[in-house]
Amino acid sequence: MKLIKGSKAPRLLQRLQILLDPVNTLESYAKKYGDIFILQTFTGPVVLLNSPQTLQEIFTKDNNQYEIPGDQILQLMLGKYSVVSLSGDRHRRERKLLMPPFHGHRMRNYGELICNITKQVASNLTVGKKFIARKLTQEITMQVILQAVFGLYDSPRLLQIKSMLADWLELTASPLRASLLFFPWLRKDLGPWSPWGKYQRQQEKLDELLYTEITTRRSQLDPNRTDVLTLMLLARDEEGQGMTDQEIRDELMTLLFAGHETTATALAWAVYWVHKQPEVYQKIMQELATLEPNTDPMTIFRLPYLTAVCQETLRIYPVAIFTFFRQTKKPVELQGYHLEAGTMIQGSIYLTHQREDLYPEPKRFKPERFLDRKFSPYEYLPYGGGSRRCLGMALADFEMRLVLATLLSNFDMELAENKPVKPQRQGILLGPKGGVKMLMKGKPIQLQTKPHSVTTV
Ligand code: HEM
Repeated sequence: MKLIKGSKAPRLLQRLQILLDPVNTLESYAKKYGDIFILQTFTGPVVLLNSPQTLQEIFTKDNNQYEIPGDQILQLMLGKYSVVSLSGDRHRRERKLLMPPFHGHRMRNYGELICNITKQVASNLTVGKKFIARKLTQEITMQVILQAVFGLYDSPRLLQIKSMLADWLELTASPLRASLLFFPWLRKDLGPWSPWGKYQRQQEKLDELLYTEITTRRSQLDPNRTDVLTLMLLARDEEGQGMTDQEIRDELMTLLFAGHETTATALAWAVYWVHKQPEVYQKIMQELATLEPNTDPMTIFRLPYLTAVCQETLRIYPVAIFTFFRQTKKPVELQGYHLEAGTMIQGSIYLTHQREDLYPEPKRFKPERFLDRKFSPYEYLPYGGGSRRCLGMALADFEMRLVLATLLSNFDMELAENKPVKPQRQGILLGPKGGVKMLMKGKPIQLQTKPHSVTTV
């Protein structure tokens, strides 16, 4: 039986390393200890895995040999009734309830909306002025998720929720500010100016708005609506019980949080890579030029090079570095290693995506690797896998491709910084440091073979 190795460095040092510099920390550990090693994290020691064989074993035995406990950090942010905080039967039930609006075929309904929101938001940028790509994509994805979750429901309260949510997320957006979530001793409410006090008060204000929205919608329930909030208000369990306001509030927070920052960050990276490499820009523009006017969003979604660019974006710097935790229910043998009952395990998405044996020259952005070969769900896993695989995967894939295609077809932009943009922890995500500075130049250069751009779809 092999022994799982790990650094002898003090616990606090290991915790700080993974908080402040996750990429270099993971790489140096993998170099020293290989495919499987122990890391001291904020929730205690965790076994990190990155080989497809071990990931397959975990994902296919979720809920059987491995429990999937709720995530403590996210529970702090999203509440104890959030799908990410639940485990076992309650988790399965909650997923079943939330899944329908996020099924692939439902995405068709959002296609036109996503393209229109993108054009409308990007049109507000001034030609000749610099802007931060991540701010642009955050505004787009925020509007998309608000529509998906609340439905086509425009009200002053929704606008308030939007701005309040953005302010609240900003409070944990840098590595330093994110430490609030990771160090319990920093979570002390010392008044409205203390970091935790500020965080709590923002959260209370946001809650007030969400609860008012829930109460209003409950009193005017329209069973013909298909938005997530309506579905939650209508849902009943076997005993005929509906969801409480608190349960609904926690799920609203979860979807708004998970559905906004993640896709916005991935899109900011995509904008960066396309403009960083002229040959990638040329190829993607040539492909977009083959589209007829008023192309159906599903046709855009299926464009091979556009798809490969988005896949490579999520490979090279996956916005979620890790899967959620799994925990062994009983002693387990995993690829020759012995794990005690109760061992915490996480898949390291970043390290799997950086494996030379799967992705030669892993540091290079090469969309072609996704055209040349098909990867298994254990080799390429930006959305995790098994029983906790991302609920919003279909929406995120659809949104990324449509937003990128619409931006490139309708706006000419260039990078406003020459230095390579480095990845940096942003809350629990891996985002581009500085958010990617861009310059808006106006309409796109006519690279097209047909004289049009993707306008209304
Ligand atoms: C590029 C965008 C996104 C990425 C990279 C991403 C990635 C992930 C990952 C890695 C997980 C954990 C999976 C695991 O532990 O095996 C996850 C879970 C989850 N994601 Fe996403 N996600 C994205 C977008 C979204 C969107 C748009 C939504 C919702 C509208 C969403 C909702 C969720 C939820 C609710 C979970 C928890 C599922 C559960 O606990 O069962 N995500 N996501």
